[in-house]
Amino acid sequence: MYKSKIIGLGKYVPDHIVTNDDLTKYMDTNDQWIRERTGIEERRWAQPGDGNTSATMGVKAAKIALERAKLTPKDIDFIVFATLSPDYYFPGSGVQVQELLGCDTIGALDVRNQCSGFVYALATADQFIKTGMYKNILVIGSELQSTGIDLSTRGRGVGVIFGDGAGAVVLTRSDDDSEIMSNHLHSEGKHAKELTVLAPGGPNPPKKLVEDWDPEDLSYYPYMNGNFVFKHAVTRFPEAIMEGLKAHNLTPADIDILIPHQANLRISQFVQRKLKMRDDQIMNNIQKYGNTTAASIPIALTEAWEQGRIKKGDLVVTAAFGSGFTWGSNIIRF
Ligand code: UT7
Repeated sequence: MYKSKIIGLGKYVPDHIVTNDDLTKYMDTNDQWIRERTGIEERRWAQPGDGNTSATMGVKAAKIALERAKLTPKDIDFIVFATLSPDYYFPGSGVQVQELLGCDTIGALDVRNQCSGFVYALATADQFIKTGMYKNILVIGSELQSTGIDLSTRGRGVGVIFGDGAGAVVLTRSDDDSEIMSNHLHSEGKHAKELTVLAPGGPNPPKKLVEDWDPEDLSYYPYMNGNFVFKHAVTRFPEAIMEGLKAHNLTPADIDILIPHQANLRISQFVQRKLKMRDDQIMNNIQKYGNTTAASIPIALTEAWEQGRIKKGDLVVTAAFGSGFTWGSNIIRF
């Protein structure tokens, strides 16, 4: 059995900043409510004509990760792309990355696990390297969510939260002590409808593709039972982290940095208090980017690394919870 390790990280967010005050142009909301309930101060939204899509933003993040890994697209054996907002309903966006980067005709797999998407994607890539099937894998989390938001007051419960962006890592076969130590993945499908976009799809009545889109049909917009999701999140985050730590006889005190999915600053603060962790042990950047779903962990991981907060040998733990419900963690010796 081989081991895998991260050798390159990259992130990309659109240039256009949307402040909380900007949102008051569309809906009845205010800066104070958004800051107090979520911690978010601003987010990035792609703009018409800037060329940003989930695939193209993923490519921009991937190019940086590849450069830092000192690899080229031709060195990559496989692509794992996590998103809830692929450019097309199908195919997924991994194939676009293969094309846009100019990789050989390697496999490309899309992971549809929403906020837990990157945790699942990293775990998936890790298995392919562990078995020896592939040596270098590009793992991307990317989201263009701003175009699918209900910007009216009706949608303000979720509309103020989401942002656009992408993060990527290059995973390679490890020949030293750096490794993905373990992955811990969970789901509970009975809560699938608590955080969902129902259309297109759905058996009763059948929802068609975009030609039938009706702006008044709420099933085309994200729905979140916010309080319900919040309560589950503050239970599942610590569970996933502790499960991973216990597998290696470690404790929260051993974590050099926790990279939680950036769902809500209050959730991260709750987790920090519950696990009795110091401020310097946890990465929060939701203030600047909002909740970027599958992109939030690779963006935060990259930013922590760029800030010098991750060094070789550090114990880095990721954790996520979201739609599905799905949740999980990756335990990483950097
Ligand atoms: O990333 C995937 C997982 N997602 C999460 O983990 C998110 C979990 N949930 C949350 O983060 C929070 O539930 C929210 C941030 C979404 C909402 O915060 P909350 O403290 O649960 O607020 P609430 O939904 O209970 O709403 C409280 C009040 C309501 O007014 P009334 O009924 O008390 O008069 C809402 O109508 O706040 C109102 N409200 C708003 N007011 C201003 C809801 N959204 C807004 C808004 N601006 N954007």
